[in-house]
Amino acid sequence: MKIWAIANQKGGVGKTTTTVTLGGLLAQQGKRVLLIDTDPHASLSYYFGIDSEQLSVSVYDVFVADKLNADVVLDCLCPSRLDSLFILPATMALATLDRSMGMQNGKGLILKNALKFVQQEFDYVLMDCPPVLGVLMVNAVAACERILVPVQTEFLALKGLDRMMHTLEIMEKTQKRRFDVTIIPTMFDKRVNAAIDAHNVLLEQYGQQVWDGVIPVDTRFRDASQAQTPASVYSPRARGVYAYAKLLKTLQQETTK
Ligand SMILES: Nc1ncnc2c1ncn2[C@@H]1O[C@H](COP(=O)(O)OP(=O)(O)OP(=O)(O)O)[C@@H](O)[C@H]1O
Ligand SMILES: [Mg+2]
Repeated sequence: MKIWAIANQKGGVGKTTTTVTLGGLLAQQGKRVLLIDTDPHASLSYYFGIDSEQLSVSVYDVFVADKLNADVVLDCLCPSRLDSLFILPATMALATLDRSMGMQNGKGLILKNALKFVQQEFDYVLMDCPPVLGVLMVNAVAACERILVPVQTEFLALKGLDRMMHTLEIMEKTQKRRFDVTIIPTMFDKRVNAAIDAHNVLLEQYGQQVWDGVIPVDTRFRDASQAQTPASVYSPRARGVYAYAKLLKTLQQETTK
């Protein structure tokens, strides 16, 4: 089972879109996919038409379970329109975890431990993180083998990226391992000079860690979210979807190396 976290402390950079689109593409490949929504705002859950406020169980229950087992996780899953794609949804209650758990010892490993129970059930787990450094992002990063960091190709977002990369360096020290980080330039508008400049700066600063493609700005993503369907299903020929397919190919090739 491959576990990827999609994280950036900066908001609105394309984390949820990346999670949903890669998840859709993987499910279309026939892979069994679990998408975990760790954002209290539950954008990923709402994307799939899951009304977070009406849920009786969610990923929150995994965090507060007395004893973890496979059923604790499996009982919280919601199906999607794609047969092999499941969602572990979020609720607002997640927002209380930072206060109740803070950085207590062992509380950063709950997701990692929970996922061990469903190793046989899924080929891929993708975790959509909130734009906040806290116990939820720490859990997602600790559980994953690969971190995808979407970054908008504009200068303010690059500042946010510096913060995020610094955070990851600190986490590498506390977790005593090197992270496999792939930075993904998103919402790239090739007609805008500032976007081209920002992309060049990104390549200069983070060279090796930056995926060598770009996700273009594409209104189809917004249309797809309105239709509550991954863009890869809603609009398979969209250029944005094509770019994510290229990204996925790179990630899958690197993973099997
Ligand atoms: N490549 C793209 N082209 C055009 N619009 C996009 C693209 N990627 C994402 N969007 C749109 O930008 C908005 C923000 O994207 P998204 O919700 O994926 O970001 P996020 O990082 O998850 O945000 P948050 O930090 O609030 O969780 C959404 O309306 C989404 O549809
Ligand atoms: Mg999001």
